[in-house]
Amino acid sequence: MQSGQLPKAKIYLDTNRTIGTISPLVFSGFIEHMGRAVYEGIYDPSSPHAGTNGLRADVLAALRELNYRAIRYPGGNFLSGYRWLDGVGPRDRRPRRRDLAWQSVETNQFGTNEFMEFCKAINAEPMLGVNMGTGTIQEAADLVEYCNAPPGTLYADLRAQHGYPEPHGVKYWCLGNEMDGPWQIGHLDAAAYGAKAREAAKMMRWHDPSIQLVLCGSSGCMMPTYPEWDRIALELCWEQVDYHSMHYYASNSDGDTDSYLALSVEFENFVDTLTGVLRYVKAKNRSQKDVYLSWDEWNVWYKATAPSDLQGGWAEAPHLSEEVYNLEDALVVAQWMNVFLRRADVIKIACLAQAVNTISPIHTTRDAVLKHTTYYPIMLFSRLASGLALDVAVKSPLYQTQKFGDKPLLDVSASYDEERGTGGVFIVNRSRTESIEAELVWQALAPRQINAVYQLAGDDPKAFNSLDNPNRIVPVSVNPPVMDDKHVSLLLPPLSFTVLETRL
Ligand code: AHR
Repeated sequence: MQSGQLPKAKIYLDTNRTIGTISPLVFSGFIEHMGRAVYEGIYDPSSPHAGTNGLRADVLAALRELNYRAIRYPGGNFLSGYRWLDGVGPRDRRPRRRDLAWQSVETNQFGTNEFMEFCKAINAEPMLGVNMGTGTIQEAADLVEYCNAPPGTLYADLRAQHGYPEPHGVKYWCLGNEMDGPWQIGHLDAAAYGAKAREAAKMMRWHDPSIQLVLCGSSGCMMPTYPEWDRIALELCWEQVDYHSMHYYASNSDGDTDSYLALSVEFENFVDTLTGVLRYVKAKNRSQKDVYLSWDEWNVWYKATAPSDLQGGWAEAPHLSEEVYNLEDALVVAQWMNVFLRRADVIKIACLAQAVNTISPIHTTRDAVLKHTTYYPIMLFSRLASGLALDVAVKSPLYQTQKFGDKPLLDVSASYDEERGTGGVFIVNRSRTESIEAELVWQALAPRQINAVYQLAGDDPKAFNSLDNPNRIVPVSVNPPVMDDKHVSLLLPPLSFTVLETRL
């Protein structure tokens, strides 16, 4: 490279070279009874922003902007000790209980029916978990009856008595949470879990054959039982389930930002391994059906992990794991979502963990809502990526990382939606110092124009938003470049996430 010349990259897009349909459910969230996610987060009757149902209007507005398609609930580790009957019926008769997962007091003032109201308010599908820790397969089946059966039998009638004569029609159900983890209440080994999940699934489906079920996979690729856990549980449950879950929390605890910014390599390795397991089990079980991946817990989480972030001291709604996100975290989140597009053939659900206050892009005080840096890549993807994922070819300069060797400076994905007449290109520049001049080349159908370009960038990877400075890291609109035949050129600043919205 001559001095004064910027490094160059080429991005080749071809609307005939596709990966698969982007499932809208990859833009989903997760709310657990943990810390201030529910109480003081989405539900706070004492807040000046609360509506008559106790839901906070300002939080709902911020969530609607993120356009989540489904919300997973009520946990997380909390799920494995949860008695769903505690959280329904007249509020003054609901018990206060000790939640052993987060050592907090659970008042049960928010439960299944309030969650349904919440989902309606943000136009998201409910995705309910059944307790496979202390819970029985009977209780799991009863909850399906309570939610989905027409009145006329015990639990459906109970729902009607509670004010909901119409079934809730919950389609997505998780068979427990992280049952491979020794920290889990009622932890089981893979064979014991597989047998229990299979029997629960059968009963749940007998109540409602239209439901879709998610099996617990490994709670991370660092688990000693990974990926054997996945193989064993899948072999036992293949015909009964539709999705297999994966969880991962990203960390830069060793301060190696160059490697941290290449983490999509690890995310893709995790997906590749599990895709291999899915293929193996399908073949071994001589099955005709497919099972897809549900990445139903993913996020950055490493700063707020002290014991006081994980144990509530038996308080109600304690401040737990209220991670503050910075620019480099937002760039990792953007790459993660690139992976959801690049592996759209197999990843069909993904839930950001979590949605409010606890490891979340949204932070509340009594009066205000703060949007962390990670809020913006989530919003841009969820609003602009739809239709088909394109198999993008990228020629990018490389940079050195300690953990993954030499990796491209650019991390890219793209979408193409014939029905909406739009497309999206999503580009992370991982360089801490270099702007990159990128040329985008459409090899088949080219867009008529670039509608808009949004850019999230900064010179300090540790920069974050705060109540005093809420707009330090927000996307700005950049003048869209004009198409030159089938090409456009674009300047990608260091530490940036750039999104092009194209009109076909
Ligand atoms: O999301 C926080 C916790 O992380 C969840 O409760 C658990 O499933 C995971 O370990």
